[in-house]
Amino acid sequence: MPEKALEILLEHAQRAALHAYAPYSGFRVGAALQLTSGEIVTGTNVENVSYGLTICAERAALVRAVSEFGPEIRVAAVAVANLNGAASPPCGACRQMLSEFVLPDAPVAFPAADGIRTMAFSEVLPLAFEMKLK
Ligand code: THU
Repeated sequence: MPEKALEILLEHAQRAALHAYAPYSGFRVGAALQLTSGEIVTGTNVENVSYGLTICAERAALVRAVSEFGPEIRVAAVAVANLNGAASPPCGACRQMLSEFVLPDAPVAFPAADGIRTMAFSEVLPLAFEMKLK
């Protein structure tokens, strides 16, 4: 994926973070997924007073993508941003959920301690749980 396309995806993630509902943590996250069809789907974190019910930006984007475009979607790139100037790689739960739809070599761009870091999805989640019954 060209660098410019990833920059644009990061801008979408940044804009999505403006919609965060994060009254409890104050941590405002946005995610943007580029589908293999070219579509961009964004999400933001939506918190709840029962803290554990909170949905992360990445999973919000993923469920939107499947809901809008169907179960055959494949994700070609992922971008994450936050408005807090902090590092925010996708959490473990989001990595596992993304793994069902993200191509192994898809770039994942996120804020790290030393700026934006980009890694292949297979590096971000090397050993996803799979269910292969014998
Ligand atoms: N959060 C995300 O949106 N994505 C992640 O990958 C990690 C955490 C949100 C959840 C919660 O609203 C806030 O960040 C603080 O954990």
